[in-house]
Amino acid sequence: MEDDAGYENYRVKDMSLAGEGHKLIRWAEEHMPVLMDIRKDFEKEKPLEGVAISCCLHVTKETAVLVKTLKAGGAEVALAGSNPLSTNDAVAAALAEDGIHVYAWRENHDDYYWCVNRVADYKPSITMDDGGDLVTTLHTTRRELLENVIAGTEETTTGVHRQRAMASQGKLEYPVVAVNDAMTKHFFDNRYGTGQSTIDGILRATSVLIAGKTFVVAGYGWCGRGLAMRARGMGANVIVCEVDEIKALEAVMDGFRVMPMEEAAKVGDIFVTVTGNKHVIDRNAIDAVKDGAIIANSGHFDNEINVPYIEEVATRAEKVRENVMEYWMKDGRKIYVLAEGRLVNLAAAEGHPSEVMDMSFANQALVAGWILREGKNLENKVYSVPEKIDREVAQEGNFLPWALK
Ligand code: ADE
Repeated sequence: MEDDAGYENYRVKDMSLAGEGHKLIRWAEEHMPVLMDIRKDFEKEKPLEGVAISCCLHVTKETAVLVKTLKAGGAEVALAGSNPLSTNDAVAAALAEDGIHVYAWRENHDDYYWCVNRVADYKPSITMDDGGDLVTTLHTTRRELLENVIAGTEETTTGVHRQRAMASQGKLEYPVVAVNDAMTKHFFDNRYGTGQSTIDGILRATSVLIAGKTFVVAGYGWCGRGLAMRARGMGANVIVCEVDEIKALEAVMDGFRVMPMEEAAKVGDIFVTVTGNKHVIDRNAIDAVKDGAIIANSGHFDNEINVPYIEEVATRAEKVRENVMEYWMKDGRKIYVLAEGRLVNLAAAEGHPSEVMDMSFANQALVAGWILREGKNLENKVYSVPEKIDREVAQEGNFLPWALK
């Protein structure tokens, strides 16, 4: 962004979308009772009074419920998107109207880091990251801000891996709480959230039949487990590709066929990567997939599919539907890549449903309070969410009252 002037408070795509955004947020609030209970407490007790919290999170209706809860607790909240395609512009506009410093818009390929830097400008005491780009920005180009930070939180597996790597090299300069690793986060959000929202994204983008298709899931972590389970539930023949022998064994015993990607490539109809690794679908697989293969990614970064190779070898590329790029190969095969290889669940659908984000974001809100209480005792390492908070979220979890009856 050449000229920063005039964007002191927020920058979104179109403020006239705010009305639509408020309705989306209200819908999410109706399905996020745990966080709404926390909001009531925060409104009374103001545990975050005057605290600057800068967030780099997907700007969805669920994130809106979180940031409004933090604001209700007294925080000054700044929010940047954590992926160029995941921002809901209506939600962003509504939040700007509600006094959140939002710097996010969909299709933000060029100014992504400009937005991350604007939320850094608020000199956060707490950072909330999804993927680690804000933590990394503060540790590299905005080091002057590090001394203000009491601690950060991290929402996703990829971000936790990045911060653990920094910690093990002695390069993490403030404590980070791995919200991803809370039981009430990854057992639910990663598994049932990714399982459902990834299928949702594929269906909204393509509207193809899942039943009878060979559905290849690359990665059998919590997200892959959930996705394989849901694809099977819709009648697909599911193949799992997993390099970790223990997880591969688990996939076998869960009843899935397990094979290397090179083999799966020859038989798959729909491919989804959820590994956190680079080029899981690489040249060999791309050269081998069948005519009509649909390829998508649900991992945090857009490098799991080697899209640059597809673009290099394709003789023609055409956007045939929203979020669907058709590539013609020299040998006449056509390959379909969804959402540029970015998180298909957020780019082509609405991300995880509110009910699972409720628990993830309840952890975020309660951990923010914990950081303020405990901050001075924390070291520069990656912390687990205190079990007391995790269990409190489960107790309040919106399904438990029925389950215990
Ligand atoms: N990550 C996955 N789904 C999400 C959602 N609905 N909101 C925020 N972050 C998400």
